[in-house]
Amino acid sequence: MAEQPTNPLQRPLPDGVVPEPVVVRTEEHWIAIMAAMLIIFMAVVVVTGVTHALHPPSNVEVIDAQTLHLNGEFVESNLGTAVEPDGSVTVRIIALQFDFVPHCVLVPADTPIRFRITSADVVHGFLLPMTNVNTMVVPGFVAEVRTRFKEPGEYEMPCNEFCGLGHHGMVTHVSVVAKDSFPTQNLFDRTTCAQE
Ligand code: CUA
Repeated sequence: MAEQPTNPLQRPLPDGVVPEPVVVRTEEHWIAIMAAMLIIFMAVVVVTGVTHALHPPSNVEVIDAQTLHLNGEFVESNLGTAVEPDGSVTVRIIALQFDFVPHCVLVPADTPIRFRITSADVVHGFLLPMTNVNTMVVPGFVAEVRTRFKEPGEYEMPCNEFCGLGHHGMVTHVSVVAKDSFPTQNLFDRTTCAQE
């Protein structure tokens, strides 16, 4: 038997052990793959954010959550869908344990829509699946999200922020109707469209 070198680094590798240059090369390849994935993911975030107008609802607009019902934009008669002079639509909603008020909103398709939402108590979430609408609703602030629905349809609008024991049941509807059938609806229809 040949004599083993005293320096362990100089001993021949046993069968099945991958030599160091191969290990280094493989690790370098994987580092390059991970870096490429990070770059791709960041690019996806930036591109979707810009093209689909996804953004945090960070227009820091404050409101007194204790007096929503008494005065200002979110008094009861002002809730629901309102048509602006330019033809766009503003929807005002209050989130509270455990419902959204109004319980259903009717909006026209193919029209710029602005949701303005605030909370009367704790943090809630406002989400319309398969759209760009997804925001936290923080008491003391007004969250604003803009969107446009291409087609008429029904949207479930679940609260997506845990807000208490009734959170799972906190769901509302957004009913999107054809643009030409919308203006004939009166305000009562716009806020009582829920089909139970
Ligand atoms: Cu409101 Cu969860």
